[in-house]
Amino acid sequence: MTMVKTKDFYTALQERRSYYAINKDVQVSEERIREIVEFAVKYTPSAFNSQTARLVVLTGEAHNKLWDITTETLRKVVGDGDFEGTQQKMDSFKAGYGTVLFFEEEAIVKSLQEQFPLYADNFPVWSEQAAGMHQLVVWTALEAEGLGASLQHYNPLIDDEVKKEWNISDSWKLVAQMPFGQPTAPVKEKEFKPVEDRVLFFK
Ligand SMILES: Cc1cc2nc3c(=O)[nH]c(=O)nc-3n(C[C@H](O)[C@H](O)[C@H](O)COP(=O)(O)O)c2cc1C
Repeated sequence: MTMVKTKDFYTALQERRSYYAINKDVQVSEERIREIVEFAVKYTPSAFNSQTARLVVLTGEAHNKLWDITTETLRKVVGDGDFEGTQQKMDSFKAGYGTVLFFEEEAIVKSLQEQFPLYADNFPVWSEQAAGMHQLVVWTALEAEGLGASLQHYNPLIDDEVKKEWNISDSWKLVAQMPFGQPTAPVKEKEFKPVEDRVLFFK
């Protein structure tokens, strides 16, 4: 796997934000998106090198379908009366180009718990931590390509329908959804707590 150089790591990390205003007018090729997602999955670490992360990339009609499923699922929970805000949010995600679904392979987590009973309680925690690492790497990689993404959590509400629609193994646990696309509006500045209060150095 060779990577074409785009934004450098620090610039991409700094410029990665939650982009909610996105559209489908993406210049990055399908192949490139596949390449960066596969690259991220291959090189992001996991506890015991267990490689529990599973990603599904939805574009085109599949992406639209995901947000239709989410909209209809939420409508049942929220009710029609109070739905306008939620509908707008769903429309804004659907307006994007694609969504990365992040899963964790529970069968591996379970097998590790059996193999290493001493760490049994830790494996689900490490699985979530590794999932978070994958999310940041993909989020930053999309930023490096000039795309904007956000991180959403409509699991577990949508899990059954998503698994049925894309024939996904029961042992894959959905942990996050990352809609992405071409940013259509700048993001607001964000406030930073003093880094000196958050990082200590000793020697
Ligand atoms: C673990 C985690 C969970 C998050 N969950 C959500 C979410 O469910 N919905 C959402 O819109 N943003 C979510 N976010 C995005 C954060 O709100 C956002 O990253 C934070 O406010 C900083 O803003 P920035 O992403 O623009 O830098 C999540 C971020 C993290 C790291």
